[in-house]
Amino acid sequence: MIVAKALAKAAATLPLRRGLPDPHREAFFLLAAAWEIDEIRLRMWPEVSIAAEVEELFFRWVERRAAGEPAEHIVGRCSFWGRSFRVTPSVLIPRPETELMVQAALEATLPPRARVLDVGTGSGCLAITLAADRADWCVIGIDRSLDALQVARHNGVEHGVDVAWLWSDLVSSCGSAFDLVVANLPYIPTDWLPTLGVEISREPVLALDGGRDGLDLVRRLVGDLERILVPGGRCLLELAEDQADAVEELAQEQGLRPAGRRRDIGGCDRMVILEHS
Ligand SMILES: C[S@@+](CC[C@H](N)C(=O)[O-])C[C@H]1O[C@@H](n2cnc3c(N)ncnc32)[C@H](O)[C@@H]1O
Repeated sequence: MIVAKALAKAAATLPLRRGLPDPHREAFFLLAAAWEIDEIRLRMWPEVSIAAEVEELFFRWVERRAAGEPAEHIVGRCSFWGRSFRVTPSVLIPRPETELMVQAALEATLPPRARVLDVGTGSGCLAITLAADRADWCVIGIDRSLDALQVARHNGVEHGVDVAWLWSDLVSSCGSAFDLVVANLPYIPTDWLPTLGVEISREPVLALDGGRDGLDLVRRLVGDLERILVPGGRCLLELAEDQADAVEELAQEQGLRPAGRRRDIGGCDRMVILEHS
């Protein structure tokens, strides 16, 4: 079968629904991964015939995708800040909005050998990106999931970065004196979880469930920031769209200074910056 026909057949198989808004985009992603070529090359080859084994693998993947499995889980990879990361059902699939955290972290002026902590590291995408782009920073990635830490460690080796991976329930076992803390903790209110669709139901609850108002873990972390940050140190927190006011208020109660917000492309306040003054 030629590329154009396979893509059209796949796109027709993939149902239009929440979580799968663009069947053509998904078909491209899956075919490029099955063929192990990049999508740009695929776009230039509409008339090229696909090898039988690639075609068979591609349509098997399309069926799994149509049944609701996230494309990144099927392929086992996800792109984040221009790098490819291994992902498994034990980790959250890194989201584009989390790249806001990278942007803000890389803009920070930190001392040489700055100590940087990634709380709830998952696939390790944040810790690894920061360690790769700022080789002089000392980066620690922590998680409460041993399976996630295994994936993060694998990704760290693939990208050749020196990150210390630690099991820790929030910041209970990771030391102090950090210049920068980045945290994309679970922030979805428990009641919302069943409404979020089949794709999200395949991701780990531990990575999503933020308790009654979504802020259980954020509240705990904010309570520890003064202890673990150096004076002038900052924490970047990713949040749901309506949580920034509440988190800034919590932070002020703990003696921290709200030092800015970042909006995502949808215009929502997605990240807050808190400073230990
Ligand atoms: C929303 S995911 C973020 C993963 C990754 N940082 C990213 O941005 O793609 C949240 C992560 O926090 C971890 N987590 C949940 N509760 C935790 C806790 N009490 N202590 C440490 N990590 C926790 C989860 O296992 C999960 O990997």
